Amino acid sequence: MNLLQIEGLSRQVTPERWLFRGLNVTVSPGEQLALCGASGVGKSSLLNLMAGLDQPDEGRVLFKGEDIAEMNDAKKLALRRTAFGFVFQAFHLMPHLNALQNVMVPCLLMGLPVSQAQARGRDLLQALGMIDMAEAFPAVLSGGEQQRVALARALVHHPEIVLADEPTGNLDPETANQALNLLCSTCREQGAALLMVTHSAEAAARLDRTFVLTH
Ligand SMILES: Nc1ncnc2c1ncn2[C@@H]1O[C@H](COP(=O)(O)OP(=O)(O)OP(=O)(O)O)[C@@H](O)[C@H]1O
Ligand SMILES: [Mg+2]
Repeated sequence: MNLLQIEGLSRQVTPERWLFRGLNVTVSPGEQLALCGASGVGKSSLLNLMAGLDQPDEGRVLFKGEDIAEMNDAKKLALRRTAFGFVFQAFHLMPHLNALQNVMVPCLLMGLPVSQAQARGRDLLQALGMIDMAEAFPAVLSGGEQQRVALARALVHHPEIVLADEPTGNLDPETANQALNLLCSTCREQGAALLMVTHSAEAAARLDRTFVLTH
């Protein structure tokens, strides 16, 4: 069965403007998919729809065959907390929590013991070259440092699918390469699917398949 299935999906942003109409995409369990397309074409909007963070104007998003829009709020919330890992384009770290605490949040929401959440969080921060910043708050972190914390937070609870919106866009080439290696290898090890927005042809070529969104 498909993990995620997009059927005839449309998003209208103004009465005259549709971002996309009748879009069909499927993501199999463990599949790694690059989402490409020009700035403003609707990639972030599509990711929000895929995670049930926004309502489609037409069509459906099915998670393991079930329409996300038809789930009640509790089920949708539980799905988002357990099955999805999200790297937002604008990071969305919690300002009152330090780096490690931000990474631990998904585990704590799932009810994992603090010690386990801390251990997993520290391992990921270590792998991303961020362990020395574990106690630092987002306000004192650079864009690239915040991005790596956001990446760790998307992986820490072993989701079934990671939706990553330009997850290495703020990193220098070497750090970006390390972060991309970690993202791909962690998803493979955990059997998680990955849908990654990227403007890099090189990064896209490392994944299983590329989906291009056009006007
Ligand atoms: N609620 C909304 N109302 C009006 N316009 C919107 C709304 N949401 C998104 N848009 C518009 O839809 C377009 C697509 O936005 P989106 O953020 O999805 O693009 P993107 O492909 O992720 O671009 P980028 O590569 O720059 O991140 C933009 O022009 C944006 O202004
Ligand atoms: Mg975007």
